This record gives sequence, structure tokens and C-alpha cells, in this order.
Amino acid sequence: MKKGLVAGIIAAVLIVFGGGYYVMNQRTTSASNASDLKTDKKTTQTSKKMLILYYSNSGTTKIAAKKIQKQTGADIVEMKMNPVYPKNYNKLGAFAQHQIDIKARPKITNLPKLAKYDTILLGFPTWFHRPPMFINTFFATAKLKGKTVVPFTTSASSEISESTPYLKKMAKGTGVKLQTGFRANETRTITSYLKQHKLV
Ligand SMILES: Cc1cc2nc3c(=O)[nH]c(=O)nc-3n(C[C@H](O)[C@H](O)[C@H](O)COP(=O)(O)O)c2cc1C
Repeated sequence: MKKGLVAGIIAAVLIVFGGGYYVMNQRTTSASNASDLKTDKKTTQTSKKMLILYYSNSGTTKIAAKKIQKQTGADIVEMKMNPVYPKNYNKLGAFAQHQIDIKARPKITNLPKLAKYDTILLGFPTWFHRPPMFINTFFATAKLKGKTVVPFTTSASSEISESTPYLKKMAKGTGVKLQTGFRANETRTITSYLKQHKLV
């Protein structure tokens, strides 16, 4: 009888305090979940989603794109075109010049969905003192309204400024915010542009 009473008291204590602990614990958990949600919301609202979209024929622009990726943590996609560009220097020259002559719009066959990105870093080699013709295709076909496009180029010596008039013409009427961009042959130029424009 006495034993039964003691057991009863212990059980009652466990129920009262144990239940209290459970309720408290639940409260703390849901409170921390709520604050997690708040943080998530804040992060989504302020973070910029960036995409590096580039083409490289002989590898230099690819190296630049990868350096930018390392610094920004942005998504990265190498554009594929149809028709495919020759790798041989002379053939490529003739091919690229012909595309300029006929105002070609080579197809970009793997353009990703751009809806989730607000900034696109667009990389290309300078050919004949201007962007290759698939850059025209990009501005003509991608939905760019409200997005920022940051062009970058690699070249033997041409600065991005040689491509700028062409890029401005392509961007006209698309609603895109076109940044000046930069020549990406040197790491320090990449780093300083990204820092100056708050892209890192
Ligand atoms: C057809 C052709 C035209 C080029 N025209 C120029 C030019 O106008 N100015 C320049 O500085 N470099 C020029 N170059 C050199 C390339 O821009 C340079 O090698 C570039 O970094 C190549 O990039 P990639 O390796 O990513 O293909 C030309 C190269 C080729 C193949």
C-alpha cells in the first residue's frame, strides 16, 4: 500500500514536470524554426542570384569564367552553338568573318532558364574587334527585362570598350541593364571589377 503511494507520487511528479519540459521544448523549437524562416526570407530577398554564361574556343575565356566563378560562387554554363565553331585558327577566322558578313544568328543550343537570375556575367572572346555573332542571338532571344548583364571578354589586346558599341545596340529595347564590363585576361582586373561593382 505504502509502495503503491510512493509510486503514484513519482508518476505524478514525472507527468507534471515531464509534460512541462515537453511543452517548453516544443515552444523553443517552434520559436527557433520561426527565426530560421525569418532568416531564410531575408537571405532570399537580399541575395543576388548570378549566372556566368560564356563561350570559349581556345580556352582563355574558360579560364577567366572559372576565376569569376571561384570569386563569386555563381552558377556557370558554357554556351554551345549550332553551327559549331571550328577549332583551327584559320578556319575559325574565315567562319567568324562570314557570320559577320551575313549577319548570322547562330543558335545557342543550351541556353538555361534565366528566370531565377538577376545578374548574368556574359563572357566571350573578342573576334574582329567585336563580340561574336552568337552574342547577338543571346540579346535577341533571352528574356532579359530587368536583369543586369555584365559583359566580359578575353582578347590579344582589345579592351571591352571595342565591343561596347555593339553590345549597346544589341541591348537596346530589351529592358536589360547593361554594365560596362571588363577585359578578363588578368586576375587583378577581374577581382577589382567584381569588388567595385559589389558582385562579390
Ligand atoms: C577569329 C579571331 C579574331 C580575333 N580578333 C581579335 C581582335 O579583334 N582583338 C584582339 O585583341 N584579339 C583578337 N583575337 C584573339 C582572341 O580574342 C583571344 O585569343 C581570346 O582570348 C580567345 O579566347 P578563347 O580562348 O576563349 O577562345 C581573335 C582571335 C580569333 C580566332
